[in-house]
Amino acid sequence: MGNLSIQFLNFEMDNPWCVASAPPTATGKLMADAFDAGWGAAIMKTVGPVEEPIINVAPRIQTMKKWNREIAMQNIELITDRRLSVWLDELKTLRKRYPKKMIIGSIMAPGHDMDAWAKLIEEMNNVHVNAIELNLGCPHGMPERDMGAVCSQDPMIITNIVKTAKSLSKVPILTKLTPNVTDIRMMASAAKNAGSDAITVINTVNGIIGIDIYKKSPLLSVNGYTAIGGISGNGMKPIGLKCVAECKQATGLPISGCGGISSWSEGVEYLLMGASQLQVCTEIMIRGFKIIHGLNRGLETYMAQMGITKASDLIGDLYKRVTSFDVLLKNSSSEKIAINEETCTGCNICVVACKDAGYDALKLKSIPDPNRSQGTRNVADLIYDHCTGCNLCVAVCPVPQCMELYDSKQAFPYELHSSYSGNTLN
Ligand SMILES: Cc1cc2nc3c(=O)[nH]c(=O)nc-3n(C[C@H](O)[C@H](O)[C@H](O)COP(=O)(O)O)c2cc1C
Repeated sequence: MGNLSIQFLNFEMDNPWCVASAPPTATGKLMADAFDAGWGAAIMKTVGPVEEPIINVAPRIQTMKKWNREIAMQNIELITDRRLSVWLDELKTLRKRYPKKMIIGSIMAPGHDMDAWAKLIEEMNNVHVNAIELNLGCPHGMPERDMGAVCSQDPMIITNIVKTAKSLSKVPILTKLTPNVTDIRMMASAAKNAGSDAITVINTVNGIIGIDIYKKSPLLSVNGYTAIGGISGNGMKPIGLKCVAECKQATGLPISGCGGISSWSEGVEYLLMGASQLQVCTEIMIRGFKIIHGLNRGLETYMAQMGITKASDLIGDLYKRVTSFDVLLKNSSSEKIAINEETCTGCNICVVACKDAGYDALKLKSIPDPNRSQGTRNVADLIYDHCTGCNLCVAVCPVPQCMELYDSKQAFPYELHSSYSGNTLN
């Protein structure tokens, strides 16, 4: 069996999986449940200054589904509505009870109020958490009070907060950033320059989950009205991976990867990109803490398949291969599609896609098949000169490994066929 432990911010986690700051860490009891189930770390639900009243609206959570499976979730929930003093007692108890688990504090205060940040850091120092996450990413409710996402949309505010935290904290600081910015690299660099030990990306993405078209009302409706909320869950993974790549490129700091992880393999994607810890929220909210068993088992099986004995060896540097279009163009070659006629079912999906969204490079052809009563069956057929190797057919083909790109060794860029490059309306 492989060794799943991972070193993150000087702490040896027994596995890379961490419960993100959210409803599954809304109380000390829930964090204890997470540790008992096997999670390596947990980040408390964010706590704010005592003077800031937290009153949630109802409802505040809605999902978006495809084929009865949740692919995204909108929430308009605020930070913890529990008293700081209760939290501090619970964190002390957790510290005693779970010495081998990574317990991470999560705090938030107004971007203009460094005294409030300082007070929260000092409170966290007293309860011996292993690290503190600065929540600069909540996109709803809190920004109106100069907290949350507004704090990581301005490098100066990030600098002030991180400097304050670093000057007082006895433990490493993670800066949790919003993806809702034009260039997250600027924000990550500000955090690094102010002394942050690590970056967490991402908090939720601004969005509206949907509309009830029969009630003509927002799906997440508070008496007919909604607010732009935070979108989380599986559909956010591409945004999370992009932010890991950009933050790692800009800073080189350890990254706690978060956003859309719903399976062990998606966790591996984050590790290979360059993250060193894996946070999960929405998938736990939907399926519970016990998903940790599948996450660990999947990771172990993958490591065995790949001949890797330590999970920490999976932390990769694919972020270095995220580059500009110009560089890709220099490396590009003349790709064509190869169709496996044995496995092709002749379903026509690729033909329609290629015709109506692409270059009209596929058609169906009939081939002999003695197993069929009519003696033939249809398969996809390539119109070689029309194919530009765009990969759409591979992406839509429902049969694994039926269509594959290969380097045709033609000169690149090759000439587009005349029915495409000329006036297409003639
Ligand atoms: C209902 C809900 C409440 C959340 N509350 C917090 C919070 O208090 N503090 C925080 O840092 N992030 C909070 N988050 C964001 C998550 O920690 C996480 O960054 C985000 O959901 C993306 O991860 P996921 O796709 O695994 O859910 C919350 C998310 C949800 C869905």
